[in-house]
Amino acid sequence: MERRSFVRKFSVTMASVAGVILGLTFLRQFSHKKAGSTRRIKVGRLSDFPVDTYTFIEDVKVFVYRDHESVKAISAVCTHLGCTILRTMDGFECPCHGSCYTDEGAVLSGPAPRSLSWYKVEKTPDEMILVDLDEVTDAEAGLYIS
Ligand code: FES
Repeated sequence: MERRSFVRKFSVTMASVAGVILGLTFLRQFSHKKAGSTRRIKVGRLSDFPVDTYTFIEDVKVFVYRDHESVKAISAVCTHLGCTILRTMDGFECPCHGSCYTDEGAVLSGPAPRSLSWYKVEKTPDEMILVDLDEVTDAEAGLYIS
């Protein structure tokens, strides 16, 4: 009888410990972003980005696009298996399995399952262009400069 009681209490204790560990692991994913994003990256000054050009920023795998009105940032990571895409004459192409995207990041041909992401762009007080990889926007959003 005492052995059964011990086994029951031990099982309940172990299940409780496992539940707490699982709960903490689950909650950790939410606390990571609140602790302060480390994915807000300064990519250069406005003058570093020629007008009507997609400039590849290798460190963060984004293309920064500047036109006369705005600066935008689009992911350079293929949505299929994560290869770095290349700029083409009229969009983007993945060298791994051939997915093609429009200038706006929409899928023209697979196997990519979805469009490329656009990220929020800001200007810092010291006049640097900052890309926030934690803030996905749409192709129309961007930092308006005029
Ligand atoms: Fe880009 Fe497969 S990783 S098409």
